[in-house]
Amino acid sequence: MQRVFSGIQPSGIPTLGNYLGAIRNWPPMIAGHECIFCVVDQHAITQPFDPRDLAAKTRDMAAALIACGVDPERCVLFVQSHVHAHTRLAWIFNCVSRIGWLNRMTQFKDKAGKDRENAGSGLYVYPNLMAADIHAYHATLVPVGDDQKQHLELANDIGQKFNHDYGADFFPTIQPMIQGVAARVMSLRDGTRKMSKSDPSDQSRINLTDDAETIALKIRRAKTDPEPLPADPSALEGRPEARNLVGILAAVTGREPADVLRDHEGQGFGTFKGVLTDALVAHLGPIQAEMQRLLADPGAVDAALRRGAERAAAIAEPIVDRAEELIGFLPRRK
Ligand code: TYM
Repeated sequence: MQRVFSGIQPSGIPTLGNYLGAIRNWPPMIAGHECIFCVVDQHAITQPFDPRDLAAKTRDMAAALIACGVDPERCVLFVQSHVHAHTRLAWIFNCVSRIGWLNRMTQFKDKAGKDRENAGSGLYVYPNLMAADIHAYHATLVPVGDDQKQHLELANDIGQKFNHDYGADFFPTIQPMIQGVAARVMSLRDGTRKMSKSDPSDQSRINLTDDAETIALKIRRAKTDPEPLPADPSALEGRPEARNLVGILAAVTGREPADVLRDHEGQGFGTFKGVLTDALVAHLGPIQAEMQRLLADPGAVDAALRRGAERAAAIAEPIVDRAEELIGFLPRRK
């Protein structure tokens, strides 16, 4: 059985991009794979954050995942900082990974912005920790959105270099799983930028917890163009905002963009936006209700995460012990 690993940062309420690009692809994998899912709080502190609400955001993210169908009884769900194997392996990977490789990471360039000299060094080595997250479990399948592809290529480079340098066929090759029309959901205000938790404008994204009125307002205000909708998806080329909204409707209704366009061909965005709003409200409503139910008992969420951390550590610790042995560290255990 293949082992699946994926992670999400607790840096805010998950967006529709997180949900359609990643989270909703996780529950269907639980049946046929050994699945390990992680709320990556150590990654979240690589960018500005508030220590007063990090714990609550971590729990909220876990509740959101459970509400989306990531059942902690049927998979391993835990918080990254609770399992020390991640940072132990990350340190080794800091030494295996090359500065030249990290310099090519587009996410670092995007996140550090113009003031690169002042960025935290954790942000720079972020991809090494991400590689450790996956390799600490010998996971081979990683469901993510399109923006994580470069990080996964780096994780494979690191695994291969470790194997080469320490003469062992130890870390397996990771296969990214980037699925469907919503692998890249774009901002509602600018169809060329990805929808993101860190965008300063809340109008640019749909949050999983937005109520019907907020969703309606954000979709009504979403940027579009004056052309009617075409019959053929290829005609959306060069119309990033239109393409994004069609992609979102296709994803939440489980259809292809071509089917969506067949229903809406020739229409302007007024009618289309009404249909999109209704579809989003219908889709997100039950998830929101379940999240609220779960968060009414925060202790139960925390307990599930602690159980998850124990199960995660039982898998990762022996793998990282062996990696340290291959490096030549004096063994900690007999
Ligand atoms: P994060 O927290 O930014 O996002 C979590 C997941 O959501 C996907 N995603 C999107 N998909 C489509 N459209 C969007 N606009 C969009 N925005 C986000 C991301 O691709 C991701 O799958 N580095 C990771 C977290 C991580 C991880 C890992 C992932 C840490 N360790 C190990 C996989 C394996 C991140 O920042 O995701």
